[in-house]
Amino acid sequence: MKFSEQLEARFAEMITHYPTKRSVLVPILLYVQDELGEITDEAIHELAQRVELSDLEVRNVISYYSMMRTHPVGRYNLQVCTNVSCLLRGADKIFEHCKKKLGVGNKEDTADGLFHLEEVECIGACSWAPAMQVNYDYHENLTPEKIDELIDGIKKKEQQ
Ligand code: FES
Repeated sequence: MKFSEQLEARFAEMITHYPTKRSVLVPILLYVQDELGEITDEAIHELAQRVELSDLEVRNVISYYSMMRTHPVGRYNLQVCTNVSCLLRGADKIFEHCKKKLGVGNKEDTADGLFHLEEVECIGACSWAPAMQVNYDYHENLTPEKIDELIDGIKKKEQQ
């Protein structure tokens, strides 16, 4: 399998940064996902060969990270943390608000393919709980009003 020219160049450069080939796996998986919209079986096999791991070992890495996926999802992936620090500061209400606002359940996509919603474990933003990640951006000290503003803002931006 060939990736885009840009991704091939990135891979060739990144692999020189690490003492062992396998160390490049997590960052390159994210770049592959950005390029393909998901991490396909073909990409898993290709990367496994390049970093000298089995397909299963690559799949195990993917299954560990909530931001990695082997199927396409909505363009904006809302990952709401409901772990203990966030829960103590109302994450359950935040997650319920997201579900209501988007009209979807956990791990579901909106009909227009714009949003994907999922409940995740700690995202390392406990000091600013409740928190969520939208693709690679963090949103902290969440309130229902902030959620509305964010979602409405994305919809508006996408309509332009
Ligand atoms: S518990 Fe939510 S960010 Fe850590």
